[in-house]
Amino acid sequence: MMNKLTLEDIDVRGKRVLMRVDFNVPQNDDGTVRDDSRIRAALQSVNYVREHGGKLILMSHLGRPKDPAKAETEEERQKIVDANAKFKMDPVADKLRELTSANVKKVDNLVGPDVDAAVEELQPGDIVLLENTRFHPGETKNDPELSKELAKLADVYVSDAFGSVHRAHASTAGVTEYVPQSAAGFLVAKEMAYFSKVLTAPERPLVAILGGAKVSDKIMVIENLLNLVDTLIIGGGMAYTFIKAQGYEVGSSLLEAEKVSVAKELMEKARRQNVQLLLPVDTLMADEFSNDANTKVADIDSIEVGWQGLDAGPRTVEAFVDAIKKARTVVWNGPVGVFEMEKFAGGTKAIAEALAESDVVSIIGGGDTAAAVNMFGLSDKMAHVSTGGGASLEMLEGKELPGLAALTNKE
Ligand code: 3PG
Repeated sequence: MMNKLTLEDIDVRGKRVLMRVDFNVPQNDDGTVRDDSRIRAALQSVNYVREHGGKLILMSHLGRPKDPAKAETEEERQKIVDANAKFKMDPVADKLRELTSANVKKVDNLVGPDVDAAVEELQPGDIVLLENTRFHPGETKNDPELSKELAKLADVYVSDAFGSVHRAHASTAGVTEYVPQSAAGFLVAKEMAYFSKVLTAPERPLVAILGGAKVSDKIMVIENLLNLVDTLIIGGGMAYTFIKAQGYEVGSSLLEAEKVSVAKELMEKARRQNVQLLLPVDTLMADEFSNDANTKVADIDSIEVGWQGLDAGPRTVEAFVDAIKKARTVVWNGPVGVFEMEKFAGGTKAIAEALAESDVVSIIGGGDTAAAVNMFGLSDKMAHVSTGGGASLEMLEGKELPGLAALTNKE
């Protein structure tokens, strides 16, 4: 995986460096940046290019804007246009100025004459930030015409958008076909290094913790991890489908009834592969999905009708923590309870604390898991907190990610 050209392999002096970043940041209602972690994560590459005399052109998507051209009525079109205003990159430009004190020129298009003019005037050390890539209908279609236009802006392309490398879009993949060189930025290189170590040469025992709501989102990752790990821990909402597959009743807990047979097959595969599979043995039940709910602990063979499991029970937490203590490498994707509610954050917090306290190599998937670890103030105690939610999951599924495959191989 690490046979790709990286930013350090390139002499950027005087060159136009077109860098795809993932500035798809959480926003406040007024559009301002609520959490700038993803912008900070790209700063090493941003500053490297600036300090080495490159002319930096940054581009990213923000949110999932709809295409106004697809509206059927004028009223609908206007609604989409209004809703999309929140996804303009201006607040991101403000945050970037604050974090870099660079001269940042934000343009209102992704391609076109105003972009050409801004790039023409761009001085080494300065930054042009293009408008949201997803405002352009060609982006998600990986349209070759858009890719060619983007490529015209660049002497070299850099991908530092780890969170988006699982998308085969014009700005993440297509553009690379029309530029002379495409390199990984520091963030992408670091993410690739951690994941490729887990997937190819982990220090063992290797433990994977999978949680989150849906089994259907995690089937492929479980399949792949069963070929790799020594211990697989399954918690969170999706565990109840496995509990059902073990023959127990789950009350009102999350259940994907049509996935019970898949859960059985996966348990069987774990046995065949000699992988220790740890499922919850007890649960913290609630009588409603609310932080004000009544709660009680139940063994998984005694979940009552009308009650739902919203967090791991104490014996489960103990078993999970015990496995973490014995591990050398832990990869974690998905919380084991509804951590957003204080009453049901205990299990997820105990796992985060166990990882923080041990000297295990801990790789935390992006999205919810990263948000949880962040909320507990433990991010800097982990070996690696990924900036990619979907991307880190697809890495663990063992897939080839289009935005990484597209980068230039080292000679
Ligand atoms: C993410 O937040 O996971 C990435 O920025 C990708 O966003 P997307 O799921 O809208 O492609």
